[in-house]
Amino acid sequence: MKFLSKTVALCVILAAGAAVAKDGVTNPVVKARMETMDTIRVNTGILGNMAGGKTAFDPAAATAAKTALAAAAAQIVAKFEANEDDPVSEAAPAIWQDFAGFTAKAEALVTAAEAMDVASLEGVKAGMGAVGGACKACHEAYRAKK
Ligand code: HEC
Repeated sequence: MKFLSKTVALCVILAAGAAVAKDGVTNPVVKARMETMDTIRVNTGILGNMAGGKTAFDPAAATAAKTALAAAAAQIVAKFEANEDDPVSEAAPAIWQDFAGFTAKAEALVTAAEAMDVASLEGVKAGMGAVGGACKACHEAYRAKK
């Protein structure tokens, strides 16, 4: 499926990105939310690498990554609740203008992560579409390019 492979590719790219925006961040609240995103990126990367055939499917590692991803996703709302800024932040003001909409996008990621069937490679592949879609939907609406 074209959408799926694009999504997997997107997540692999996200996972491979070395230079993260938090380089140079000074506001501790902003740093903490970036670290949550980083945990999400790392664990999505583990699953994306398996889905894309870059690493061998490992059910135990997939379970651990899914659990960590879902837990970090469940932290998004609390981490972004305070309207804090930093020169290197990519958070869009729309987050705090429409926090209900932002919350819905965070919950969509929690749902997608929890729904992933990590017992089989096929399940991980199928689940990556919804996970990657949830990243993209929120980033498009609430992560501004500066
Ligand atoms: C509910 C919204 C939302 C969802 C869902 C979401 N993100 Fe984010 N993400 C953001 C926002 C907002 C920022 C910018 C934060 C900042 O710079 O202050 C961000 C930043 C990031 C960063 C950069 C972190 C840094 O160190 O600067 C990465 C990497 C990232 N997201 C990965 C992901 C991945 C992978 C997913 C999906 C598995 C995902 N995000 C899902 C809102 C979201």
